[in-house]
Amino acid sequence: MNPVFSPGSVAVVTGAASGIGLAAAKRFATLGMKLVMADRAGDALDRAAEEVASLSSSDVMAAATDVSSLEQLQRLAEEVPRSFGAVSLLMNNAGVGNNPGLPWENVAGWRALYDVNLWGVVNGVQAFVPGMIASQQPGMVINTGSKQGITSPPGNPAYNLSKAALKNYTESLAHSLREATGTRISAHLLIPGFTFTGMTGVADKPASAWTSEQVVEFMLEGVIAGDFYVLCPDNAVDRTMDEKRMRWAADDIILNRPALSRWHPDFEAEFARFMASSGGKR
Ligand code: NAI
Repeated sequence: MNPVFSPGSVAVVTGAASGIGLAAAKRFATLGMKLVMADRAGDALDRAAEEVASLSSSDVMAAATDVSSLEQLQRLAEEVPRSFGAVSLLMNNAGVGNNPGLPWENVAGWRALYDVNLWGVVNGVQAFVPGMIASQQPGMVINTGSKQGITSPPGNPAYNLSKAALKNYTESLAHSLREATGTRISAHLLIPGFTFTGMTGVADKPASAWTSEQVVEFMLEGVIAGDFYVLCPDNAVDRTMDEKRMRWAADDIILNRPALSRWHPDFEAEFARFMASSGGKR
């Protein structure tokens, strides 16, 4: 097993009270890792920490933390090494999916979403990564992005923007860590497909969705294999479909098509033909 995931290693997971973050915390606990579960203060966090603690004899800390506050994350980054030791794994996963509206509406709502989905991750990196570098130990940073940050489907443009910025930031983080630490500390972009979580907003799992546990197993395999882009399928979208959708989006620039041509009426038939074609290569 990769040393980052060895028993006694310290993992910090944000958004750990629900969904993918909770499933990750549970999985890391079963590996014998010490867990720092960061989420907004409340019953959900306390219950989640109890559940994770019941799975392992390792230490679990419920850390009431708002990731949009750099100060709160910095305080946590000072506390964790004192209580648990150096951090090996930082999973910046907390996110919100509320829709603040159209590009010319509700600037406060756009900023609030950015504060969590983008700045929450930047804050996590700024608070924890300098200590991870100084520790001289192997380490890993996993940031939870989204396919919506790559193909920008219409619907929630603020969310798309936050996840596009996060993809770009995480690419730079991976490069900068490689330059600064060689292979000792790596960064990875987790790109879940449709996953049944608190964010899904329905009581029963849609047939097309994966479970959080499936995402976490896929993530573990990917990051241990050294993948930067951990592109998860779901029960409706396989890797070939994702590849074609991403290729189509990149081709909007190369072929000088209108923005988001996948959803433009003039390109509807061409896009359908492209998706139906075999191979997906032009
Ligand atoms: P979830 O709603 O079940 O979990 C998100 C957690 O983040 C919650 O526990 C919430 O309290 C926490 N959180 C929100 N704002 C916070 C803040 N300011 N400080 C600390 N914690 C905060 O949702 P899910 O799906 O597990 O989300 C995890 C990540 O996965 C998010 O970044 C989301 O954008 C991403 N994602 C989810 C997909 C899905 O289909 N569920 C698809 C692609 C990406």
